[in-house]
Amino acid sequence: MLKIIPPSPKYSKQIWEFFKEIDGNEYLRNIDFSLNAAHRLAYYGGDDVHTILVYNEKVIAYGWIRGWTDDWDDKCLGLIVSPKYRGMGIGELMCRTLLTVASLRALNRVRLHVDEHNRPAIELYKKLGFEFKGERKEDELIGYLYYS
Ligand SMILES: CC(C)(COP(=O)(O)OP(=O)(O)OC[C@H]1O[C@@H](n2cnc3c(N)ncnc32)[C@H](O)[C@@H]1OP(=O)(O)O)[C@@H](O)C(=O)NCCC(=O)NCCS
Repeated sequence: MLKIIPPSPKYSKQIWEFFKEIDGNEYLRNIDFSLNAAHRLAYYGGDDVHTILVYNEKVIAYGWIRGWTDDWDDKCLGLIVSPKYRGMGIGELMCRTLLTVASLRALNRVRLHVDEHNRPAIELYKKLGFEFKGERKEDELIGYLYYS
């Protein structure tokens, strides 16, 4: 079945398989998808929010909200769905789950960066209420979702 859970050592191998599937994505250039990174994620025990979506014991999506550990003013959301499983509502499901956690943690807003050409992601984020008002960093748009 399908479950959205925190990463754990039990899924270390599956996380690594997932990382291999998505490595090389043009919009995810700055993310470490090495075996070590998969291992670190599987054993993560810090304050940031990391979730994996597992379907039939296979990891098919990974999402996070980071910023507690590094004490960022704004907490930042990110999301990846396995190419074979895109367009089925999984990105939206993961994103809504993460945003619910943000709300439970009483955040006033959530921030994200997205490549200006990454139309699927921009449309998803807009659908969920993110606003893009011209703030950017190089070729990335910066968006916010406000809770109050
Ligand atoms: C962006 C991403 C997470 C979307 O995941 P997904 O599971 O395919 O998205 P969903 O099926 O849940 O779609 C939800 C909404 O996203 C938008 N969307 C998704 N794919 C789209 C596409 N190809 N074109 C335009 N809009 C799209 C739509 O608004 C859609 O809502 P709708 O079905 O009512 O039209 C996925 O494409 C992905 O992993 N991309 C690579 C990683 C990435 O770019 N991550 C974002 C980094 S900031």
